[in-house]
Amino acid sequence: MAPSYPIVRPQISTAPNTSSRHQHETVPAAADYSSIFDHGFHKILNGAGPPPEHLEPQYAQWEAALGKACDLPLTIQDASEGAQDWRRSIRDMSIISSITPLKHDFSQLLRARMVLVYLQQFYVHSTPKDTPSSTCPIRIPASLSIPLLLISHALDLPPVVTYADTEYYNFAFPEPTGDSTADPLRLPIRILHTFSGTSDEEHFYSVALRIEAEGARALNKMRDMLRLAAVSVGPTPSSGLTPLLLELAESIKTMGEILQTMRAGCEPPVFYGQVRRWFNGCADGAWLYEVDDSADMRAAVDGSEWLQREAAGDVRARAMAGSSAAQSSIIQALDVFLGIEELTHERSFDNAADAKPGAPQGNFLTSMQKYLPLTHRLFLSSLRDQARGLREHVLGLDDGGAAMRAYNVCVVALREFRTFHVRIATLYIVNQARRAAETTSTESAQEKAKGTGGTELLPFLKGIRDRTNAAELSQ
Ligand code: HEM
Repeated sequence: MAPSYPIVRPQISTAPNTSSRHQHETVPAAADYSSIFDHGFHKILNGAGPPPEHLEPQYAQWEAALGKACDLPLTIQDASEGAQDWRRSIRDMSIISSITPLKHDFSQLLRARMVLVYLQQFYVHSTPKDTPSSTCPIRIPASLSIPLLLISHALDLPPVVTYADTEYYNFAFPEPTGDSTADPLRLPIRILHTFSGTSDEEHFYSVALRIEAEGARALNKMRDMLRLAAVSVGPTPSSGLTPLLLELAESIKTMGEILQTMRAGCEPPVFYGQVRRWFNGCADGAWLYEVDDSADMRAAVDGSEWLQREAAGDVRARAMAGSSAAQSSIIQALDVFLGIEELTHERSFDNAADAKPGAPQGNFLTSMQKYLPLTHRLFLSSLRDQARGLREHVLGLDDGGAAMRAYNVCVVALREFRTFHVRIATLYIVNQARRAAETTSTESAQEKAKGTGGTELLPFLKGIRDRTNAAELSQ
C-alpha cells in the first residue's frame, strides 16, 4: 500500500509563538518555550535551574506573611486567635499596586504570583464558614487582590493556585544541583512550601516533581523523534524511530513506577483530611476581588475571562479550578505527542447531566490547559503541530509493523499509568470519603469524592484510562 504521509515536516521551533491571544510584549520570557524539549516543564529560565526561593526585599511583606502562615500553621476554617491575627495582618498589608519591577525579572514574577496565590488560598480556606467575614462571596483584600490580578494578567493565568504554583515553582535542589540526567527516583528535591505543614504534602509534591523530571527524559525522546522525522519523512522506514518509541515507552513506565511511590510517604487519611482541601479553587462568584481604578487594573479585569465586574464596582471571580495534577504539562504532552488528545479528552464530562451547579462544564482536560503556564501552552500547541500525523506515519511505514508495535507499547504504558492513577485516586479520595461519610453526616460521601477540579472522580478517570486503551493501533 502506498502510504500517505500526513506527518508535517517537523520544525523544532525556538521562536516564541506570536499567535497567542495575549500579547506579551512586556513579559517576553513568559512566551519562550525553547528550552522545554531539553530540560522539561519543571525547569524555568531556559533550563537554568529551579525557581528562586525568595523575592526581592521590596516584597518582603508577602514572604513574611507566607512564612507566618506556614509556621502557625494555619488550618482549614481556622478560628484560632493566631489565624484571626494572620488574616487581619493580610488585610492591613500595604498595597503594592505597580508590578513594573517584577516584569523585568521573569523568575521573580513567577515567585511573586506563587507567593500571592498561596496567601490567597491560606486566606480563603482558613476563614471559618460561619463567621461574618466568611459570608459568601468572600472578599479578597486589596493587598492581595491588586498585585495578584495584575501579575496573573501579565502571565495570562487565572488568579488562583495552579499545579505550576504547587509544583514547578515550589522546589529546590539541595547541593549538588540536580541535573536532567539524574535518576528521577533519586533526585534530591526540597519542597519550599506546604499548606498543611505535613511531610505527606511534601511527599505528594515530590512524587509529581519526579514524574516531571522523568518527563524531561520523555521530552528528549520526543525531540529526537521529531528531528528524525524532519529528515526522513517518506515511505522509507526510519530505523531510528522504533527504538526511540520504545525508549519513550520506558520513560512512561518509569512515570507509573514513580506514581506508585506515593504510598511511601503520603498517608491517605492525611492527604484527604489535611492536604487536598487547600487546593480547592473558587465556585462561580464565591470570591470578590477588591480592585483600584488604575488603567493597568482595568486592562487586567476587562481582559480576563476569569473576572466579571459587578454593578457596585466590585470584581467577581468566575468558577476557577484549584490545583490539580490534571494540569500536569507532561501528561498533557504525552497525549498530544501520541496524537490521542482528541480521544482521551473526548467526553470528559460523561456525567455532566449529574454535575452540580458550578461544576466545570465542557471538556475538562482541555479546559485544564488554561491553567498551564503560557510557556507550556505555547509548547503544547507547537508540539501538536509538529507531531501531527504520527499515528498514520507509523502505520504507513514499510517495516513489518515494528514502529506500530513500539507506538502501541507507549499507549499501553500510558494506560498503565492511568490504571495506577485510578487506584491512587480510589485509595486517597473515594475510600477516605466513604470512611468520612460513615462518621459524619454533614457532607455526603458523593460530594466529598470529587476531585479538586470538580470532577465526579472515578467515572471520569476510568473513562480517560479506557479511551487511552482504545488508542492502540492495528493494521
Ligand atoms: C494522592 C495522589 C493523587 C490523587 C488523590 C489524585 C487525584 C486526581 C483526581 C481526583 C483527578 C481528577 C481531576 C480533578 O478533579 O482534580 C486527577 C486527575 C489527574 N491526575 Fe491525579 N491524583 C494524584 C496524584 C497525581 C500525580 C502525582 C500525577 C502525576 C503528575 C497525577 C496526574 C493526573 C492527571 C494527568 C490527571 C488528569 C486525568 C488523566 O489524564 O488521566 N495525579 N487526579
